[in-house]
Amino acid sequence: AASVILTTGKLFILIPWCIYVSAPGDSCCNPLSMGSIKKMVEGEISGIYVLSLMIGKSVIQDTENGFFMDVNEQVSMVCTQLAQDPKLKGGYNAMGFSQGGQFLRAVAQRCPSPPMKNLISIGGQHQGVYGLPRCPGESSHICDMIRKALNSGAYTDLVQKHLVQAQYWHDPLNDDLYKKHSLFLADINQERAVNETYKKNLQLLEKFVMVKFLQDTVVDPVDTEWFGFLKTGQAKETETLQESVLYKEDRLGLAAMEKAGKLVFLSTEGDHLQFTREWFTAHLLPFLH
Ligand SMILES: *[C@@H]1O[C@H](CO)[C@@H](O)[C@H](O)[C@H]1NC(C)=O
Repeated sequence: AASVILTTGKLFILIPWCIYVSAPGDSCCNPLSMGSIKKMVEGEISGIYVLSLMIGKSVIQDTENGFFMDVNEQVSMVCTQLAQDPKLKGGYNAMGFSQGGQFLRAVAQRCPSPPMKNLISIGGQHQGVYGLPRCPGESSHICDMIRKALNSGAYTDLVQKHLVQAQYWHDPLNDDLYKKHSLFLADINQERAVNETYKKNLQLLEKFVMVKFLQDTVVDPVDTEWFGFLKTGQAKETETLQESVLYKEDRLGLAAMEKAGKLVFLSTEGDHLQFTREWFTAHLLPFLH
């Protein structure tokens, strides 16, 4: 099958725009661009067609465009692009890095044609984030700005539409506000209503693979990478996907998918998006065939 690799280039807080893969036999990590991931996949699977979608181009550009994007609009743009690509007609596997994980899940839920076969979420934040993750040194003033904006009104329409960070902000102490006003995440997670189409489409996947980074210092709480989150009403204790209302009421079809053996939970040592090429080849490559 063809593959779509979504590399959300931006959101430098949640989304470092380059990923790190250590060279074979190398214990330290070298930055590796998404282009290298594409090349690596092409090298490993002969004849594969890899489409790499970059949303946001660089950290610098992000400060200009990246902040001001409506994720819902981006999803529909990507759906259009996928539908127009003749090479994807027979279906494709999708691999999303960091926020690309939940982004591609939205694509699976909203746009069943062409069909997505396997969805691989690498460090995705399926229940959003709460708390400001580590800020890369040089942009700390921007982090302060974001922190202020989120504190003062993550759920105002203006902030929701224009600050991508806010679209993944999940405040367990203000659950009602989150459910009511989160324009992207609460919608794809069926918080307001159950959209049967989302539920049906997601279950069309053959596998939904979620990768969690065991030493992740960027995503908080890290449970979100396996679809868990903080329990509602407090900000300390977490719950797993299986303990959540979403799963117990099976509002999104995830319980049915687990029963059918479609959910794959993987973890790896390392900080956000850091893994070795060997690990990638052994554990993720099989889902791209
Ligand atoms: C459910 O999702 C589909 C696919 O995105 C959309 O077309 C439809 O309008 C949604 N239904 C409701 C009630 O929101």
